[in-house]
Amino acid sequence: MSNSKQSGIIKSSASSNIALVKYWGKKNHQIPENPSVSFSLSHCKTFTETTWEIKEDKCSAMEMAFYFEDKKNFEFQQRVLKYLETISSFHTIPHNIKLKINSRNTFPHSSGIASSASFMASMALMMKKLDELINEHSSSLGEFAKEVSKWARIGSGSACRSIFGPICLWGKLEGCGESSDEYAVPIKNYHEIFSDYRDTILIVDSTPKNISSQKGHQLMAEHPFKEIRYLQARDNCQKILNAIKMGDLETFVKIVENEALMLHGLMMTGVNPYILLKPNTLTIIDKIIRFRDKTQVPVAFTLDAGPNIHLLYPNRFHAEIMVYIQKELIQFLDNGNFIEDKVSVRPTTIEFI
Ligand code: DP6
Repeated sequence: MSNSKQSGIIKSSASSNIALVKYWGKKNHQIPENPSVSFSLSHCKTFTETTWEIKEDKCSAMEMAFYFEDKKNFEFQQRVLKYLETISSFHTIPHNIKLKINSRNTFPHSSGIASSASFMASMALMMKKLDELINEHSSSLGEFAKEVSKWARIGSGSACRSIFGPICLWGKLEGCGESSDEYAVPIKNYHEIFSDYRDTILIVDSTPKNISSQKGHQLMAEHPFKEIRYLQARDNCQKILNAIKMGDLETFVKIVENEALMLHGLMMTGVNPYILLKPNTLTIIDKIIRFRDKTQVPVAFTLDAGPNIHLLYPNRFHAEIMVYIQKELIQFLDNGNFIEDKVSVRPTTIEFI
C-alpha cells in the first residue's frame, strides 16, 4: 500500500499583472497571436485555500465545492469545474478526490479590476502542488514554476504571467531563446529602476464591463488590422525589453501608452466595434499627458480591457503623484477610488500541510 498523502490543505496565492505590451488575439488552446510583456503586482492578489481528501471508494467521481469569501458561489464553481476538466490531461490526480476551495481577493469586487489572472494562477499553483503531493514526485523550482505558468494559461491567458516577477514575457519572441507561447518567462535583464516601479490604479468606473476579454480575443480573428497589429506587438516587445534593460524611460512611456491606445483602438475599429472607455478616462489621460509635459515626471498611463487607468512610474515620484491625484484627478474617479500597488519580484506563495 502506498504511503502517499490522502488528505491535506494547500494555501496558494498569486498576484494580478498589468500588461505593458498587450495580449489581444489568440489561437486554439490559449496560444497567443503575439507576445506580451507585463509587470506582476504586489497588492492585487487572490488567496486560495483548498482542503482535499482522497475518498475511499475508488470508483466515486470528483466532488468539488467552491466558495468565494466563505460563501458558496455556483457561477465560479462551474468555471472551476470546466477548468479542472480542461487541465485533466496534465496531471494524474485521481477521480475520487474531494475538494473544498475557498478564494478571496485583496481588492474589492466592485473595483472593476479583473481578477481572472490572479485567480487562475492561484488555482494552477494549487493543482500542480496537489498533483505532486498525491503522486509523491517533486520538480525543481524552475520546472515547477514553468509548469504552473502553463497550467495557468489554460485558465486565462494572462494568468501565465502572474507566476514570475517583476517583469514577464509570454509568447515566442525572436532573439529571446527561452520565450514560449505555452508559458511565461521572467525577464532577468532589467534596469534597477524597475525593481520597485509603482502602479496606481485609478478607478474611473467600477461597473462590470459588458464585453468580456474572451469575446474581445475572438473578435480579433476577423479584425481588418490584425496582421499589422501582431507585427507591431512583436516590435513593441523588442523595443520595450530593450528600454527595460537600459532604463530608457522615454521609450518605455511611449510604448506603454501606444499599446494602451492601440488595444482600445482595436476594439473601436473591428467588424463589431465597441467602446469601453468612459469620458473620464479621456479627461484623465489628457491631464496626465499635460502633467508629464509640465513636470517631466516620467509617468505613463495604461489600460486593461476597461475604463480604469493604471499609472506607472518610478517609486521616487510616489509622493508627487499622490499630491497630483488628490488635487487634480480625484474628482474624476468613481467614489474617489484608487488602489496603490507596485511590482513584485515574487508574485506567488504556496504552503501545505
Ligand atoms: C486586455 O487573459 O483575460 O488584459 O485568455 O480569454 O482569459 P483569456 O483573456 P485574458 O486577456 C487579457 C487581455 C488584456 C491584455 C493583457 O493582459 O495582456
